[in-house]
Amino acid sequence: MIFRRLNTLFTSIRWRKPFILILLAVREILRPIFYWYAWHIFETDISQDLLKPYSKEDVEVKVYTPQDYTLIIQKQISAMGELEPAEIGRRFARKDLIAIAVVREQPVGYMWMAISQGLELAYDTYWTVRSHEAVKYGSFVIPALRGRAINSCLNSAVNSYLRNIGIIRSLSSISILNPQSMSLPKHYKRPIAMTVFVAHIRGLNWNIRKSFRAPLESRFTWPKKREIIRPF
Ligand SMILES: CC(C)(COP(=O)(O)OP(=O)(O)OC[C@H]1O[C@@H](n2cnc3c(N)ncnc32)[C@H](O)[C@@H]1OP(=O)(O)O)[C@@H](O)C(=O)NCCC(=O)NCCS
Repeated sequence: MIFRRLNTLFTSIRWRKPFILILLAVREILRPIFYWYAWHIFETDISQDLLKPYSKEDVEVKVYTPQDYTLIIQKQISAMGELEPAEIGRRFARKDLIAIAVVREQPVGYMWMAISQGLELAYDTYWTVRSHEAVKYGSFVIPALRGRAINSCLNSAVNSYLRNIGIIRSLSSISILNPQSMSLPKHYKRPIAMTVFVAHIRGLNWNIRKSFRAPLESRFTWPKKREIIRPF
């Protein structure tokens, strides 16, 4: 557990620019009273031509549905070092699917897909997933094989799988503080559909939400209660 956290911390430092590192540090210092996230939201029409992967590795991608969920799959996923078994179980229980990338018969990364309601962005802010839509989330590639565009193979395989089951639009959120993830939409020159800011004030138990480029309620829902809500 400690090793995982140290590893994540080291990787975050290695691939982020000084300005982003300062922002992340300030966010951590303020965590006991105030925490925030900012994402770019992307929407891709996958009924059209699918984007080609650009990895030079020989990558095979297999998709597993909740019906395929076994202890072996759970062990394969958690052995990659990011997710605890309980979290994997929660995702399958929500009926999410996973695409696992395999290189030389070794699982090396994955991408999750949510095709029903219930996926939380953060702080009680939930994706609106309409029929024929799916959210791609939680991409991960093992540190030893990062930088070889394996994520692009996962992305293409996931889009292709989704199209085959009748999905026409894939959605995703990428933290503006995560240049490793932003590489994929930059490579394909994907336009940003919306930028979302979500913050939580601890003592007051308030959530603040704000969107740019498009109205927040066009893509997200949240409980209408004692909160500061600032839609577009
Ligand atoms: C985000 C992630 C899935 C990308 O996977 P990937 O297969 O390494 O993707 P790419 O090979 O296209 O590399 C993406 C970026 O990672 C960085 N990178 C390059 N070499 C790297 C290496 N050896 N180690 C780590 N990051 C590297 C670069 O910024 C690269 O972008 P560039 O090619 O435009 O310069 C992977 O970095 C990861 O698992 N990160 C931790 C989990 C995470 O942040 N997930 C995103 C949740 S939305």
